[in-house]
Amino acid sequence: MTLSPAAELHVHIEGTLEPELIYELAERNGIDLPYADLDDLRARYEFDDLQSFLDLYYANMQVLVTAQDFTDLALAYLHRAAQANVVRAELFFDPQAHLVRGVELSTVMEGLGAAIKRSPSETGVEAALIACFLRDRPPAEAVEVLSELIAMGAPIIGIGLDSAERDYPPRLFKEVFDLAAEHGLHRVAHAGEEGPADYIREALDVLGVERVDHGVRCLEDPDLVERLVRDQVPLTVCPLSNVRLKGVARMEEHPLKRMLELGLNVSIHSDDPAYFGGYLDDNVTAVRDALGLTPEDLETLAANSLASAFR
Ligand code: HPA
Ligand code: ZN
Repeated sequence: MTLSPAAELHVHIEGTLEPELIYELAERNGIDLPYADLDDLRARYEFDDLQSFLDLYYANMQVLVTAQDFTDLALAYLHRAAQANVVRAELFFDPQAHLVRGVELSTVMEGLGAAIKRSPSETGVEAALIACFLRDRPPAEAVEVLSELIAMGAPIIGIGLDSAERDYPPRLFKEVFDLAAEHGLHRVAHAGEEGPADYIREALDVLGVERVDHGVRCLEDPDLVERLVRDQVPLTVCPLSNVRLKGVARMEEHPLKRMLELGLNVSIHSDDPAYFGGYLDDNVTAVRDALGLTPEDLETLAANSLASAFR
């Protein structure tokens, strides 16, 4: 099936780290992996919730050391995205997850910056970077890191908020989002993935976000749904992620079709494709088959993604 051209607006570049590349980079950097072999690593891609995934996601990042590693990671993803007819990709990355391991910001930015520069000619995908802050790290650290990114002229178009959601309400991060706004950066945040619908409202009202990542739990709050429909706030939904992290029991129960019918501005994305069983095309075919989406539904979803992109 040829998919309509689409924008990938919710993908964590570190979540595109495939087991094979983990082994390749470990070898290149002389790192001993705590797994018996590739199959042992693959067998660990079973999750109970967001935190059980995050534990493996952060552990595997240790193989990313040099600027070249980050470039290779991002270009491998962008080549794969091109096969799914992605024409624009706004890549999340987690600067703090690298800083805490002793990898300099300049290394991360040099590596990812080179990839987005080379992408149009090498993969055909236009790419941009969004720095995400970890809600389970101190809010003051986020402000410090964003200040450094701004000072170094890092090639980012915006900021986001990710990692463990429960008990870390968006309002804790008002200062870093205000700083981003002052510098003309776009603002997005994960909200309503595992956290309550109220976090979506807070992300809009306190952080001033232009898109909500996930947002599926908005359905628990009819007044919020009405507002999201009225304002056509983009919700970047990641179906395979929701099932693999057990926010949704089976794909047949995914609320995406209901969200479309309600008139919400939803689009389909892949989140952490190496961990959740597939890229954008895999997500599209999985929901299409499970929910019986029509060609018109798929066209709407792809069009929503392009309209919600920051370009
Ligand atoms: N949710 C929250 N934080 C994340 C995710 C996710 O799916 N992937 C990487 N960081
Ligand atoms: Zn995400």
